Amino acid sequence: MKIAIHINGGRPDSWLAALPEALRAAGLGADVSVWAPGDAQADFAISWSPSPAFMAEQAAGLQALFSVGAGVDHILGVPGLPDSLPIIRVEDAGMGAQMAHYVSWAALRHLYGFDTLQAAQRERRWTSRLFAEADRCTVGVLGMGVLGEQVAATLDGLGFAVRGFSRSARDPQAYIPGVQHMDASHGLDAFLDGLNMLVLLAPLTRETQDLITLAVLRRTARPSYLINVARGALVVDSDLLAALDEGTLAGATLDVFRTEPLPESHPFWTHPKITVTPHISAKTVVSTSATQIAGKIAALTRGEAVSGVVDRSRGY
Ligand SMILES: NC(=O)c1ccc[n+]([C@@H]2O[C@H](COP(=O)([O-])OP(=O)(O)OC[C@H]3O[C@@H](n4cnc5c(N)ncnc54)[C@H](OP(=O)(O)O)[C@@H]3O)[C@@H](O)[C@H]2O)c1
Repeated sequence: MKIAIHINGGRPDSWLAALPEALRAAGLGADVSVWAPGDAQADFAISWSPSPAFMAEQAAGLQALFSVGAGVDHILGVPGLPDSLPIIRVEDAGMGAQMAHYVSWAALRHLYGFDTLQAAQRERRWTSRLFAEADRCTVGVLGMGVLGEQVAATLDGLGFAVRGFSRSARDPQAYIPGVQHMDASHGLDAFLDGLNMLVLLAPLTRETQDLITLAVLRRTARPSYLINVARGALVVDSDLLAALDEGTLAGATLDVFRTEPLPESHPFWTHPKITVTPHISAKTVVSTSATQIAGKIAALTRGEAVSGVVDRSRGY
């Protein structure tokens, strides 16, 4: 079996180190190498943002293409992707806990006004703040998938009032206790109504691109707070700035952007109400992900079905 690693624009070293051992542990012997133009056909590939050249040479002969991230928007738009090629994404593999920590940090920081306290410290000002109460703060998680559910459960554990939104329905009897779930049948407006914080954790698809407009943000409580850990293109940048300017939003913590790295000239960098982090809210944990991918390759070679296969019609 031949496995190609193709981390376009990133470092493949850690995958090259982890994958052979993970495959051995899964009972597979394999030739694992970093793809170079002209290489022999691989059976499986593990990739981030595959290049058109890689697609042209390898895609048609692959049994499956694994995304090293939870999102697959970096693969779906690449020219030369055969319709029949299964794309399989990493599911959680340590990202859920990181995401829950990041969102909790951003939510607590805003709830307790830690920025205001820090500014007061710089001026040696003793500012006694009235602490907000988490249970009076309703947080909505848009995208209750593998990561969203962990974020919602963690926020619930911290005492926030938590609401989640997905495309499909959940069984309320068997859902995360304390978390109210809504879906398309309730409508997005019902989900947004009265939210004090909105957390974006839906994939970038035709449906979610540019979903977060000024009109959508105005449906939340005024002022609310935005945390985007999904993809930058869910949000219309100019509308986010307008929402901050008019007081619809009190602030935003943004980990993801339309163009990454965020261009130096972008107004988000210097906006006093925006916190920018460089796409670090949940990094792929290579060792855990390699074990997961190796297990799925072993299952596929036995002819078994695996989870995490992207539904091309939905785009995630
Ligand atoms: N910032 C980072 O470092 C980082 C790291 C990892 C992932 N991410 C992002 O996080 C996203 C979510 O990851 P995941 O593993 O949780 O994905 P997932 O398990 O596929 O969950 C996606 C969720 O979004 C919902 N959804 C899809 N389209 C929707 C729409 N139009 N409106 C409302 N909800 C919609 C899905 O609904 P259903 O349940 O009904 O299908 C599902 O609940 C990834 O796609 C990626 O873009 C970011």
